[in-house]
Amino acid sequence: MSTYIFILGKDRELSFAELKACYPRAKLKAEGDDFAVFDTDEKIDQAEFNRLGGCLKAGKANYSVSRAELPDALARELANRHSGSKLDFAVSVYGWPEKNLRPLLVSLRKAMSAKGLSSRFANQKFLNLSVPQHKGIGKKGIEFIVARSGERFFVGPVIAVQDIDGYSRRDYGKPFRNMKVGMLPPKLAQIMINLTGVKEGKVWDPFCGTGTLVMEGLLMGHDMLGSDVDPKVLDGAKKNADWLVREFGVKNKAEFFVHDATRPMRDKIFGAIAAEGYLGPPQPPHLEAGRLSPLVVKLEKLYVDFFRALKEAGCEKPVVIAMPFFRCAGGKIVDLKDATGRIASLGFLVQGSYRYARPDQSVGRLITCFSRKCR
Ligand SMILES: C[S@@+](CC[C@H](N)C(=O)[O-])C[C@H]1O[C@@H](n2cnc3c(N)ncnc32)[C@H](O)[C@@H]1O
Repeated sequence: MSTYIFILGKDRELSFAELKACYPRAKLKAEGDDFAVFDTDEKIDQAEFNRLGGCLKAGKANYSVSRAELPDALARELANRHSGSKLDFAVSVYGWPEKNLRPLLVSLRKAMSAKGLSSRFANQKFLNLSVPQHKGIGKKGIEFIVARSGERFFVGPVIAVQDIDGYSRRDYGKPFRNMKVGMLPPKLAQIMINLTGVKEGKVWDPFCGTGTLVMEGLLMGHDMLGSDVDPKVLDGAKKNADWLVREFGVKNKAEFFVHDATRPMRDKIFGAIAAEGYLGPPQPPHLEAGRLSPLVVKLEKLYVDFFRALKEAGCEKPVVIAMPFFRCAGGKIVDLKDATGRIASLGFLVQGSYRYARPDQSVGRLITCFSRKCR
């Protein structure tokens, strides 16, 4: 059993839910606004961490100490890692104000020099290291995470960070992009697949568009099914998946087919559904809630018909779906509440739902996890 500190992304609830879905047997030991500490049998390394979309860093927490013990504990860790040449180190603090970093870092450098060990800290302006800054300290340097929960400070070296280069290579390097269809960020696609709770087996995206979920699923080791009502975007999704297989040496397989998601699909086997449905046309800022009614009615029909088709086909698999919500003038939020109620009455139970939107977006995504029990 090991203890890991996960630094959560800005959508805390979503990141936290993803961890719980990925490691259902892990025991939550401590949590803060931007971190969670878990005991788990799973081995978390960079490869495992790359499957997670919602976390920025992970550290292996070897112990926890009191506030008074913290400087000596860190100084010991640094001295143990000193190999003779100058050590580049950094400390990032969570659940504890960053203003504590300045005295801590200065005292650590002093403690190292008192032992005759040369070192330099990499924190710029005495602030936490961002993911790109972590990459900057290189393999020879080390970053420690300090996560405070109550009176205890969990301490551990960073063992994995978000693969930002991989995300942008997949997002911007793929051959087919289509701003009209809208594109799911790859890390959100990973989170959605993880939220299905299915670690192996085939996943179906019935609204696959340019194929972001299909691509991320392939990289995570799933065989994938991708379908869309529009043959043109489906063609683009195929090109993207072929590109991924070539560029990333992926072994898993994707199958694509034209299909209207509001019709039952009975001839293919899958273990879960993860999809971003139609979000409607792009919307201007400061939307007027009243003017959205015709679009909301149309979208609600699409989603209810989709779930009705799943029911007709006898689908009992977990479904994680992103549906739109709209941010209107005056801070009003319009979402597809009626649809969720009608979907529930078809027998699909809501297990969790999470809002995802950049601050400037008027159309956000409400990610809802459904399960169905018909017995
Ligand atoms: C928001 S886009 C999905 C984007 C996708 N996640 C991506 O990353 O490119 C929604 C997709 O749903 C498709 N769509 C709309 N109505 C559909 C239906 N009834 N059946 C299947 N696909 C549908 C659209 O053609 C569009 O490609």
